[in-house]
Amino acid sequence: MDQMAANKTAPALRAMKSKGEKIVSVTAYDFSSGAIADSCDVDFILVGDSLGNVVLGYDTTIPVTLEDVEHHTRATRRGVKNALLIADLPFGSYQVSPEKAVESSIRLVKAGAEAVKLEGAYTDAIEAITKAGIPVMGHVGLTPQSIHSFGGFRVQGRGSKGEVVQRMACATQEAGAFAIVLELVPAELARRITDALEIPTIGIGAGPHCDGQIQVFHDVMGLSPELFRHAKDYVGARGLMVGGLEEYAKDVRAGTFPSEENSF
Ligand code: KIV
Repeated sequence: MDQMAANKTAPALRAMKSKGEKIVSVTAYDFSSGAIADSCDVDFILVGDSLGNVVLGYDTTIPVTLEDVEHHTRATRRGVKNALLIADLPFGSYQVSPEKAVESSIRLVKAGAEAVKLEGAYTDAIEAITKAGIPVMGHVGLTPQSIHSFGGFRVQGRGSKGEVVQRMACATQEAGAFAIVLELVPAELARRITDALEIPTIGIGAGPHCDGQIQVFHDVMGLSPELFRHAKDYVGARGLMVGGLEEYAKDVRAGTFPSEENSF
């Protein structure tokens, strides 16, 4: 399989900022969601560790393993032909040492990712992974792998704390990241960081001034049981699916499915 999409590369994504082109992204976790996202001309697809929440049913992303992300990256890779495919480094796969971060990143690239994302200003790890030839996307603000330090899913960087988030974003750029996710930060702080950085900012719950946006596949589809303020349900898929399955069950019980045309 040709794993290298022709025009959606990490350098091309970075260059979109200087051209003033908005970057569009969504997560995906398997062949079908990857293929659906890829057919919509999104710029990059993230195999996010949010798979822990929306696919595996955990309360947090903390239990997600490198093997989980490898497995879902392989499946998503088979459905993605055009978009840049990025995989999340899960909790425990990069914090211990830059060497471990490089080893983990290599495993995700061998599984089909073209870049990796990590949370926090792990500048030594970002430098080492970049040096190994793997583009790195940063992630600051609300970083869900540190949920126990934050004490809950809360907006980060309000008031003077914004300077800390901005410093982390600058350090991430200095270390060599090609783009950075800003999650759950005030829109005004995201605007300041976006203006200050040369690399594109990708917002989720970070207002409209970022260079691009990312959303969780299940949120934009309306598959998640709850809708977060930072997300928008564009499809209402949960209701559609429940309605469809209820109709199927009714037909089976009534003996009207399968009909003659479904039979051989
Ligand atoms: O895991 C994920 O889905 C993410 C996005 C929310 C950026 O990290």
